[in-house]
Amino acid sequence: MDYRFPLIEKLPPYVFAVINQLKMDARRRGEDIIDLGMGNPDLPTPDPIVDKLVEAARNPRNHRYSASRGIPNLRVEISRWYERRYGVEIDPETEAIATIGAKEGFSHLVLALVEPGDRVIVPDPSYPIHSFAATIAGCELIKLPINDGPEEMMDALRKLEYPRSGQPKILVLSFPHNPTTVCVEKDFFEEAVAIARERGYLIIHDLAYADLIFDGNKAPSIFEIPGAKDVAVEMFSMSKSYSMAGWRVGFCAGNRQVIAALTRLKSYLDYGIFQPVQIASIIALRDCDYVVPEIVDIYRKRRDVLIKGLATAGWQVPSPKGTMFVWAKIPEQYAKKGSLEFAKRLITQAGVAVSPGIGFGERGEGYVRFALVENDQRISQAIRGIKTMLND
Ligand SMILES: Cc1ncc(COP(=O)(O)O)c(C=O)c1O
Repeated sequence: MDYRFPLIEKLPPYVFAVINQLKMDARRRGEDIIDLGMGNPDLPTPDPIVDKLVEAARNPRNHRYSASRGIPNLRVEISRWYERRYGVEIDPETEAIATIGAKEGFSHLVLALVEPGDRVIVPDPSYPIHSFAATIAGCELIKLPINDGPEEMMDALRKLEYPRSGQPKILVLSFPHNPTTVCVEKDFFEEAVAIARERGYLIIHDLAYADLIFDGNKAPSIFEIPGAKDVAVEMFSMSKSYSMAGWRVGFCAGNRQVIAALTRLKSYLDYGIFQPVQIASIIALRDCDYVVPEIVDIYRKRRDVLIKGLATAGWQVPSPKGTMFVWAKIPEQYAKKGSLEFAKRLITQAGVAVSPGIGFGERGEGYVRFALVENDQRISQAIRGIKTMLND
């Protein structure tokens, strides 16, 4: 039998899988590859969070199915997090839901809100699930350029021509932005909220990098804009701020109709996050603010080592204001062959794995993304390899 799966055919093999394979082949040959490919945090989860997990895991009461939308105390803590950080009121009962990481939350949220054929507006390039969630749900994408900064994207949004049939249903935003590292100020959200209200679409803002912003800058929540809850929800991830990537916890907050839709869909799909993980997440949100600046400082130092090192190799890349990434235009002499070929060459000739920009969308072509997930020494070692390759 030859089966056909039309949905799966719409999902191209992950470009990153090609790089991963090359990385594994090289490692098998005994080569040392510095892996700056995937945004997979390498730092340990802080002790108080791990300790709470262990304690809660020993209690058999926590071994049963949990609540799909998150236990009440976790939702209360989400609400307190918003109040403390942004002065924003979130009702834990109706305006917050725990998700199995921001990625699961985001993809099911899109599925909950659309019908096949709906239009979804996304930045290009984007974190892959920001566009593929819409593809999986059978939607059509409207892509906005973002490489040159927030003004480029806002300008394209302002000038968007709307077909008479099929108004967009969702606008996807995410700042600090993966992969471009673009950050915005509140005025960006103010205008986006006004446009969404006028046009009648919803905004999903993915604030996964809420804390990963440097040099005294602050990443705003969309809810700092009065009335934003009428048109928006926001996602947060525990993966980056608390180095909890493998734990799979995040949350979504905001518009209650949207939260209710996601709650309903998820109640069909899952039984909730393992309860000890939810209990430990309460500790993270309640007691672990102090670890966040330490984590941010580690990423900032790595950023500086990489940016300065690339400059000494003759590769000038702007220093990102936020995220755990560096988004680098490919040096001119290599640009023609494209980002995938350049990334392959970086593995084989420099011993460095990065993500090719094309993996994030058409407008990602011409770039590669470095994830700051190895320590300063290893990044310096990567620079030595890159220098040798570029000056060969
Ligand atoms: C913008 C963005 N959102 C969400 C995630 C994933 O978050 P989580 O681990 O909570 O699923 C990532 C991970 O790289 C990301 O870059």
